[in-house]
Amino acid sequence: MNGFEDLRARLAALDERQLRRARRIVEGGWTPAARLADPGGVGRDALAFCSNDYLGLASHPAVVEALAAGARRFGAGSGASPLISGHNVAHHRLEARFAAIQSPHVPVARALHFCTGYLANLAVISALADRETEVFSEELNHASLIDGIRLAYARRRVYPHADVEALDAMLQASTARRRVIVTDAVFSMDGDLAPLPRLLALAERHDAWLVIDDAHGFGVLGADGRGSLAHFGLRSDRIVYMATLGKAMGVGGALVCAHEDVIEWLIQRARPYVFSTAAPPALAVAAEAAFDIALGAEGVALRTTLHAHIARLRAGFGASSADGAAGDASDPSAAGWRLLPSPTPIQPIVVGANDAALTLAAALLDRGIWVPAIRPPTVPEGTARLRVTLSAAHTVEQVDRLTEALQELVERPG
Ligand SMILES: Cc1ncc(COP(=O)(O)O)c(C=O)c1O
Repeated sequence: MNGFEDLRARLAALDERQLRRARRIVEGGWTPAARLADPGGVGRDALAFCSNDYLGLASHPAVVEALAAGARRFGAGSGASPLISGHNVAHHRLEARFAAIQSPHVPVARALHFCTGYLANLAVISALADRETEVFSEELNHASLIDGIRLAYARRRVYPHADVEALDAMLQASTARRRVIVTDAVFSMDGDLAPLPRLLALAERHDAWLVIDDAHGFGVLGADGRGSLAHFGLRSDRIVYMATLGKAMGVGGALVCAHEDVIEWLIQRARPYVFSTAAPPALAVAAEAAFDIALGAEGVALRTTLHAHIARLRAGFGASSADGAAGDASDPSAAGWRLLPSPTPIQPIVVGANDAALTLAAALLDRGIWVPAIRPPTVPEGTARLRVTLSAAHTVEQVDRLTEALQELVERPG
C-alpha cells in the first residue's frame, strides 16, 4: 500500500464510523444570524448556536474599529518572533493590563501574550514540565493541554473528572521531582466548572503548580468578567492562569498570568513562544478595546443578558438550572436527549450515537438552526452531542426558536 492508498483507507475508515468532518463556509462577519456559502448550504441563512463569541464582541463596532486603528498605527504584522524584534508596545501594554486585572488572584503577577490559546498551553506545560515531572491531567482536559504534556515528554497521570480524592491519592504516591496539575476551568464540551478551590489546596499541599485553562471563563465568570479565579475568589502564587482572547473577547490570541518568575522562565524557555512570530500588534489593540467593554459597565449588562438566555434555554428544555432533570413529554429531555448540568453558555445536549447526533444537527439545519454535532475523539465514545453555545448577541426570540425547534423534533423526529 503506497502513501496515498494508506491515506485514502484511513479517510474511508473515518467515513465508516461517521467521523469525517467538514468545514462550513460562513459569509460575512460573525453574528448569530449567519449566512452559509458552502456547497451544502449556498445562500442559506442559519441561526447559529455554535460560536464561543459569548458577549458578541467579534462584531462589536468599538472592537472592530480598534483592530483597524491598530493596523493603521502598527501595520499588518509584527515582523518577527518576540525575542528577535516582534514584541511591540501594544503587546507590552496588553500584558501589563492583564497582569493588573488578575493581580488580586496572582501575587507578583506578570503576563505574557500568545498568538493562540493552543500555543499558550503548549508553552506553559512544556516549559514547566520535563521528563522528571509528573503532570496530573483532568480526564476531560482540552487537547492543547494534552499536547503540551506530550511536548514536555512528561509523565501523564490522568485523574477522573472532578475527582479530587483520586487526585490527592495520586499526588501522595508521586515521587517525581516536579509536579504540575492541569485543568480546564470550564470544560469546553460539557460546560461545567472544575473544583478549583480544592485543586488549589492540593497544589499547595503537594508543592505542585496549578495550570488553569480559563478559555471559556474569562469574560463570562466573576461579577466583573475577570474569570474563574475571581468567581471562586482564589489567590496563590502556585496558579498559572491562561485566558484566551478568541472567545468572550471576540478577537484571537491568549494571555498567561503567573508569578513573575514563571513568566520569565516562559520567555526564556517556552519553545512555542520563542520560535513563533509574535501576533500582529493590532490584535493586542483590539483585545484592549474588548477588555474595556467586557470588564466595564457594558460587560455587566451583556453578562446579565447571557445568563438570562442560559436560564431560559434550560427552562425550555425542562431542566432546572442545575440538574438537567426531565420535564413533561414535549420536553426535549423526553426523547432521551440529556442536557448536561451546565451553568455556563456551553449547553451540551448528549444524544449518544454519532449518527443520532448527525441526524439531529441536520434536522435543525433544515429548520434554519445551526448547532454542531460533536463526536469522538473530541468527546468520549457513545456521548456524541449537540454543543449549543449561547451569546449575549442572541435575542430572546432566537433562543425560543431553538427550544421550539427541539420540541418539534421530539414530537416529529427527522
Ligand atoms: C479549553 C480550551 N483551551 C484552549 C483552547 C485553544 O484556544 P485557541 O482557540 O485560542 O487556540 C480552546 C479552544 O479553542 C479551548 O476550548
